[in-house]
Amino acid sequence: MTGLRSFLGATLTLGFLCTVFAQMPLFSTETGYDLIFSTAELAQRQLTWLNLARQMGVDAPEGVENCSLIGLYMVIREGTTFPSEADTMALNSLQQRMRSQPINSALRYLKQVPDSRLPMNMAGKLSEAGRQEMKMIAMRLKSRFTELFSGPDIDLSLFNFQSMNTTASIESAVAFVQGLVGENQICETISSEMNVTVNCQENPRTSRVSTPTSAYIPNQPISMDSLLRPYITERNCLSDANKGRTNTEVRAFQMGREMAQLTQKIVTKFTPPRAQPWNITQSEVQLLSKICGFHNALFKDNSTWCQLFEYEDLNVAEYERELQHYWDESYGFPVNSRVACPLINDTFEYLEGFTARNPNSNLPVMSMKFTDENTLLRLISLLGINRDQQQLAANNYARNRNREFRSAKMAPFAGNLAINLFRCQEAGGIFFSDQTYRVNVMLNELPVNVTYCPNGLCDINVFKNGFMKQAGQCLVDKECHRAIRLGPNGGGGLGGGSRAAASSFAQSPLNVFFALAAIVAAKIGYGGL
Ligand SMILES: *[C@@H]1O[C@H](CO)[C@@H](O)[C@H](O)[C@H]1NC(C)=O
Ligand SMILES: *[C@@H]1O[C@H](CO)[C@@H](O)[C@H](O)[C@H]1NC(C)=O
Ligand SMILES: *[C@@H]1O[C@H](CO)[C@@H](O)[C@H](O)[C@H]1NC(C)=O
Ligand SMILES: *[C@@H]1O[C@H](CO)[C@@H](O)[C@H](O)[C@H]1NC(C)=O
Ligand SMILES: *[C@@H]1O[C@H](CO)[C@@H](O)[C@H](O)[C@H]1NC(C)=O
Ligand SMILES: *[C@@H]1O[C@H](CO)[C@@H](O)[C@H](O)[C@H]1NC(C)=O
Ligand SMILES: *[C@@H]1O[C@H](CO)[C@@H](O)[C@H](O)[C@H]1NC(C)=O
Repeated sequence: MTGLRSFLGATLTLGFLCTVFAQMPLFSTETGYDLIFSTAELAQRQLTWLNLARQMGVDAPEGVENCSLIGLYMVIREGTTFPSEADTMALNSLQQRMRSQPINSALRYLKQVPDSRLPMNMAGKLSEAGRQEMKMIAMRLKSRFTELFSGPDIDLSLFNFQSMNTTASIESAVAFVQGLVGENQICETISSEMNVTVNCQENPRTSRVSTPTSAYIPNQPISMDSLLRPYITERNCLSDANKGRTNTEVRAFQMGREMAQLTQKIVTKFTPPRAQPWNITQSEVQLLSKICGFHNALFKDNSTWCQLFEYEDLNVAEYERELQHYWDESYGFPVNSRVACPLINDTFEYLEGFTARNPNSNLPVMSMKFTDENTLLRLISLLGINRDQQQLAANNYARNRNREFRSAKMAPFAGNLAINLFRCQEAGGIFFSDQTYRVNVMLNELPVNVTYCPNGLCDINVFKNGFMKQAGQCLVDKECHRAIRLGPNGGGGLGGGSRAAASSFAQSPLNVFFALAAIVAAKIGYGGL
């Protein structure tokens, strides 16, 4: 028994070491899109659907080669933006202190970083990196389902767009359209209230043919957008169910051992020899870890602010933000994700337009919804993706070191979830009854398994029934009433992990050992002075 255990232990530890070393540090939902992929995944994103399915073990009884895409519903977060106004201001004032107070000579270079790298007038706005992310996603989507696009000219009427009403989201949609039509078309944007028009055509100076095409991007005012910003329209319900739990967890982690050690470490790095400890607060340390992520995403720069941190330092800082997302938007409370029911409802309605006895022949082939990380994370959680047995809490950082829930991998900048509908034809079948409609879920351009659709491509009815078994009728009002009546931790079903599972995990010394091994391994990781 002991022998077997240590053998298993060694094998699994090795596995952990490999995954830990293979990963770059991530920055919760402020992670640049390309940073979340391994080298192998970067290549997989480029594959056609058929090759991707074969490589990732997605299969259908009819054979994937006998399935063809007929509809796609995609929810996309805005591309990489600049840091918020508050963060930009806080960074500027920290740098001012760095310039006016003695600082360890090894860090003097930080005084030289110009404020203009993160200009105040760009705060919160879509960056060029973000535009590029959008264009590339659109281009890969086209080549993944190349059979749908005959000829080089894209007809934008095959698509349906809708955006949340923020500049970053609408501009992301516009960049996506530009990616679809390609660089040899010039697009012009005309904004009117609640409806943005994008007209594209070939540059008349360089091209004799002209194939003009247009996209419309409608958007609802904030207070009415229950589809793309349900956390606003349902904010009372959400805060009643939460009862301050998010703040409790986040504060407890801020006060805890891991964050104190991290802050101490940074203080030591800043302080010149034999001087008073440098004055930097814990929230400024958190800010610097975030700014490291922004430099990574915006400029592919991991050698300026990131030099302050080792890999494990960044994981600690990230966990504080993970707690926030987990309790506010994800598995912390069932209702967090249930407010995204209108969005999944809209998805089913769209897909069922194709599968109905009298299919709607006017449906767009692709329906694209542009939103933010808040809504995207709720939707992903509603489907039950990356859900852990035990809850994320302030006091179990080490045990959650290898958790499923990683907001960076779920809703990074430009993060996206697609639900694809395929028509699969049995071999030799010629009748309507020989066809099966199948659904596949793709998170950030790669297929994921949901528990009720384990082979990644399942009958739409199996998918829907499985989903409803977890989420019920998915009626927001009813869920809100239930959540408030039951109070915190009251719900079963989605979210609100069970206490029994958490304690049995804690009692397994093997698991604790692995978590610790992974942390030790990670210490060897990232940069650092
Ligand atoms: C796919 O369809 C073709 C032609 O009908 C057939 O020959 C082939 O066996 C099918 N593949 C599978 C796995 O059934
Ligand atoms: C947006 O404007 C275009 C052109 O004026 C129009 O065809 C389209 O129906 C409008 N869409 C919405 C949702 O108002
Ligand atoms: C969003 O909607 C509000 C209210 O309708 C409007 O004032 C604002 O200009 C809109 N924002 C954008 C970016 O369209
Ligand atoms: C340290 O900085 C904070 C603001 O960041 C300030 O409120 C506090 O007075 C400073 N303390 C010392 C000893 O300089
Ligand atoms: C999904 O599940 C299938 C079979 O259960 C497995 O072969 C495949 O590797 C899984 N895919 C992913 C992305 O986890
Ligand atoms: C979802 O759709 C069904 C009909 O398909 C409808 O009865 C229900 O009210 C919808 N729920 C929400 C939350 O929109
Ligand atoms: C910084 O990024 C580059 C390129 O992405 C990578 O090769 C390098 O290992 C990174 N450096 C550190 C210290 O992580």
